[in-house]
Amino acid sequence: MAKLFLADKNETITDFNEIKKFLNAHNIVLEQWEANIPLSDDADQVTILKAYEHELKPFMEKNGFQDADVININKDTPNIQAAREKFMKEHQHSEDEVRFFVDGEGIFWFNLGGNDGVVAVTCQRGDFLSVPKMYNHWFDLHPKYHVKAIRIFTNKEGWVPLYTNSGVDAKYNP
Ligand SMILES: [Fe+2]
Repeated sequence: MAKLFLADKNETITDFNEIKKFLNAHNIVLEQWEANIPLSDDADQVTILKAYEHELKPFMEKNGFQDADVININKDTPNIQAAREKFMKEHQHSEDEVRFFVDGEGIFWFNLGGNDGVVAVTCQRGDFLSVPKMYNHWFDLHPKYHVKAIRIFTNKEGWVPLYTNSGVDAKYNP
């Protein structure tokens, strides 16, 4: 279940509905999805996509997404530190970044500006999150280094990170 850390206020919110309301006010979508078949830890991509098809398909059709795949990152993934360093610099994408967390944990950081400043959403099993396009954010694998997630694309090229080089990330990253 997701957790929200308001970094500039040093405050953590764990109530799902409260987190959802906060993020929705910033145009970030947060939902909870459940598999409709039991999934083993070594389920393959086809089985995982099938287990969430009842949520995935209507979402993709409604929002014009074409492709979905499953990434599986863990401590044995080659060059994991190099990958982490790429994710954890503030960037944007030309399309929405949509992730569903099948297992493991990942942290989305958002630079919201204004009163809310920088916040971090820890996403765990069952959390679905959509980052709007051209939205300042970064992502961290720390401390678990285990993410199994469905990625949804309109176009894989859209997911290229456009770095802001703001340096804000460095003030918050562990
Ligand atoms: Fe991103």
